[in-house]
Amino acid sequence: MSVIISPSLLSADFLHLGRDVEMVNRSDADWFHLDIMDGVFVPNISYGLPVVEHIKKAACKPLDVHLMIVQPERYIDAFARAGADILTVHAEASTHLHRTVQQIKAAGMKAGVALNPHTPVHALEDILQDLDVVLLMSVNPGFGGQSFIPHTLEKVRKLRALLSGSGSPACIEIDGGVNFDTGRRLLAAGADALVAGSFVFKSSCPEETIRGLKNL
Ligand code: DX5
Ligand code: ZN
Repeated sequence: MSVIISPSLLSADFLHLGRDVEMVNRSDADWFHLDIMDGVFVPNISYGLPVVEHIKKAACKPLDVHLMIVQPERYIDAFARAGADILTVHAEASTHLHRTVQQIKAAGMKAGVALNPHTPVHALEDILQDLDVVLLMSVNPGFGGQSFIPHTLEKVRKLRALLSGSGSPACIEIDGGVNFDTGRRLLAAGADALVAGSFVFKSSCPEETIRGLKNL
């Protein structure tokens, strides 16, 4: 199966968001990655529900929504109504992660759990069977354009082994500092899906950059 590419609109041109959504529609990308930040869980604020609703109207690919917010369980139904197809919460932000994951599925979405760089993949050992996506942060969440943390490669290998052992169907998605070089190394380590923000949107031809990532 070929790699899943999920361009992060955090690095899009917010004055011309419709144009950038159309570009992703036309491109070889598979998902739209939408970063929701609350200024509490992470030291930055991005955009919220009305923007997601509008993107949903224009997007013809699944919305992969990454919640970087505290108590994400409070907003599950709101993001389902706004059009999220995959909803990913941080393990560090949800005290009752198992319940949160069940609520995401009951609301009709695929369930993802994200881990910060310092959180061991073993923290998910007893919930892997219930997940559709495990999102490993390869930068500290909050900002686009940061450098890839190389230890992520080791985490991908460990997680791949854990998933095979558990029979979980979850896919491994990586977020932060992805480019052709890190992307290639991540795929070799066992990643299934790559998020890319600045590498795509700051490039001279974003559509071609997406094609390059898809063909790594
Ligand atoms: C960071 C976000 C990422 C961000 C990645 O907290 O979760 O999705 O957009 O940006 P790049 O690809 O520029 O590192
Ligand atoms: Zn993200």
